[in-house]
Amino acid sequence: MRISFTKPALPGTGTAVVAAMAKGKLTPSAQKLDAKTGGAIKRAIRASRFEGKKGQTLNIMAPAGTRLERIMLVGLGKAAEVTDLEMQKLGGGIYAGTRRVKSGKVWVAVDAVTDAKLTAAQMAAEIAYGARLRSYRFDKYKTKEKKSEKPSLTSLTVQCARFTDARRAYSGLAKIADGVFFTRDLVSEPANVIYPDSLAKQARSLEKLGVRVQVLGEAAMRRLGMGALLGVGQGSDRDSKLVVMQWNGAGQKRGGAKSDAPLAFVGKGVTFDTGGISIKPSAGMEDMKWDMGGSGVVIGLMKALAGRKAKVNAVGVVGLVENMPSGAAQRPGDIVTSMSGQTIEVLNTDAEGRLVLADALWYCKEKFKPKLMINLATLTGAIIVSLGNEYAGMFSNNNRLCDRLSKAGEAVGELVWRLPLSDTYDKLINSDAADMKNIGGRGAGSITAAQFLKRFVGDTPWAHIDIAGVTWSKSDKPTVPKGGTAFGVRLLDRLVNDHYEG
Ligand code: BES
Ligand code: MN
Ligand code: ZN
Repeated sequence: MRISFTKPALPGTGTAVVAAMAKGKLTPSAQKLDAKTGGAIKRAIRASRFEGKKGQTLNIMAPAGTRLERIMLVGLGKAAEVTDLEMQKLGGGIYAGTRRVKSGKVWVAVDAVTDAKLTAAQMAAEIAYGARLRSYRFDKYKTKEKKSEKPSLTSLTVQCARFTDARRAYSGLAKIADGVFFTRDLVSEPANVIYPDSLAKQARSLEKLGVRVQVLGEAAMRRLGMGALLGVGQGSDRDSKLVVMQWNGAGQKRGGAKSDAPLAFVGKGVTFDTGGISIKPSAGMEDMKWDMGGSGVVIGLMKALAGRKAKVNAVGVVGLVENMPSGAAQRPGDIVTSMSGQTIEVLNTDAEGRLVLADALWYCKEKFKPKLMINLATLTGAIIVSLGNEYAGMFSNNNRLCDRLSKAGEAVGELVWRLPLSDTYDKLINSDAADMKNIGGRGAGSITAAQFLKRFVGDTPWAHIDIAGVTWSKSDKPTVPKGGTAFGVRLLDRLVNDHYEG
């Protein structure tokens, strides 16, 4: 789908989208079109339950007096409801409602709304961004889908008076969408296609955007003493990898320097989690192809930051392993030594994400001395019991960072909810045989997993985001079609943009 911005003009053909405010009050573009069609829009409102509330739509097919195939009337609600998030949702709704239009062409007329927080140009850019986010499809393996079943929308033109402003605002948002799409692609690919080596190659593609990418193999990781990460991968025929991505954009910032301590993002990249010898039941195991979701978000985030040339130094570290049972696999009861020197009794080989992150976090902290460290992981089924599919779980040693993450989440619609950490929870992972064990008791499964990670971050301001419940969606949302969501890319891009580029 091609997205473009032009000055307002009544389209001759295709589908025209115009808006009404609360109580059915038509915007200027809608009034003009209503006049052109001999009052077709007002008649349709009277014949329906459309009241101009946000989220409402009304379709008028083949309106007389024009050659348009359709008029889609959308509700904006009250001026106070015209926010960036609502405009994105509206754009997503417009895409979903028009993706099968016969002409393939859709025009959206955007007028300034009195008392709204956004200008018309900002509204236009956010609508286009929402439509773009919703248009994602992972269909490369569908060889028999009929043309009549595929989306036919090829051209979305958003019209507003200051359309060059809209175009400029959209170009930054489009880079974030590129990162989101990259993450969704990586998460959607099956585990016979995406495994540690092939995922590392995907990360390497960021080099063309100016990201420095280094890939550590098993020998290098063994020299560094990463016994926790390597133990998880030892049952797989596929070699484990650690990928380090560096974006150095702080030099562009006033008072910034290439040598500024970076922000660090660390991702769990278990490209398939069978559970290992503590094997999972077969029902639903296919979901574990997206157990690399945390690493997918970190890679997509780096793409977004580099794509929009963020004025920040950022480093992404992802630990990539496949958790398989085999004659070489790690056994329950094995004791491994992590890069930090701390020993771990592996009581359950299915609690593997924390083992991977233990070495990735420690390496990141030692190597880069980052300003802060945020890790993302599809870490526990227990977080789905706690929070379902609405909020991600957040754990942290730093109140200010939590506050910033919560606010960034609300701003982009990727919500995080903080759960507690404490010494009393920490005790639950003490081991009789080693420094710690990799599982706690029956209760507080997400918290004991977070306490485990905390033992590998030292004093670095740190947050762990458990995205097990939000990485994959079983239903369409306004800007997120079902499937891989890329939850975390928009959240962290926003965090960076709001606090670390100024
Ligand atoms: N990858 C899983 C967590 C998960 C579950 C992610 C469902 C997405 C959806 C993780 O490696 C795991 O297996 N965790 C165990 C931990 C347990 C053995 C302490 C779990 O949650 O059951
Ligand atoms: Mn597991
Ligand atoms: Zn896992």
